[in-house]
Amino acid sequence: MSDMRIWISEKEAIVGDDLWTVMREVDGYIADLFAPRDEALVAAVEESRRAGLPQIQISPVQGKLLQLLTEISGARKVLEIGTLGGYSAIHLARALPEGGKLVSLELKDRHAEVARRNIERAGVSGKIEVRVGEARRLLQEIAEAGEEPFDLVFIDADKEGYPEYLEFALRLTRPGSVIIADNAIRGETVLRGEDEASRSIREFNRRLAEDERLSAVIVPVIRERVDGLAVARVVT
Ligand code: SAH
Ligand code: DHB
Ligand code: MG
Repeated sequence: MSDMRIWISEKEAIVGDDLWTVMREVDGYIADLFAPRDEALVAAVEESRRAGLPQIQISPVQGKLLQLLTEISGARKVLEIGTLGGYSAIHLARALPEGGKLVSLELKDRHAEVARRNIERAGVSGKIEVRVGEARRLLQEIAEAGEEPFDLVFIDADKEGYPEYLEFALRLTRPGSVIIADNAIRGETVLRGEDEASRSIREFNRRLAEDERLSAVIVPVIRERVDGLAVARVVT
């Protein structure tokens, strides 16, 4: 650590692997301080792994940030697209006030089943409704039901769907609402537009930046690879 150079100047360059090692340590330091071990969250990850779900939930630091953004926004009604084992849903629900509600959409029955158990164990089942089905269909149903707008939408399902999910998020929110999306960077794949998923996210990011109804930014995130959390406020 001591001879690792992390200051970039004209005279100093960082060897890529060293920088990444430092970044992982930084994320660990932040996680230890602000997202310490939590039994319900550890159990959620462990049970999801045992059930054979992919280990692609947000990081503990992202979870804490999601929780804070939800609290700061004063959200009472939240929509999540992509439940998996309920790890992010538990963070969102914990940030909700008494009477708050999270609707979380999940394609796979098996994922929803594991999520419901994890949510129950975390003691937040009264605040979360997991709906199973293709997100596009469920979002269409929600839009047609014409219910009250959501205060916050968290997008984290199939990456190809992101541009469409953004359109729905705009339809289902109000000025002042918050729209957040995971995987806005996805390693370097989004920078290069290497695959279909990455090209969809590039499109999503470009719309976030250019749409005059939104004010947004991407916060870099340290995970297995570099990633990003997109955060937007609905302006009009
Ligand atoms: N938000 C979760 C991780 C979600 S992973 C967390 O951080 O804890 C992405 C999830 O989206 C997977 O469970 C996957 O089954 C689901 N998904 C993928 N395509 C979908 C679609 N078309 N509609 C709804 N859910 C979908
Ligand atoms: C992956 C990661 C995610 O956060 C996600 O939502 C979907 C897939 C992945 O690493 O494959
Ligand atoms: Mg994700």
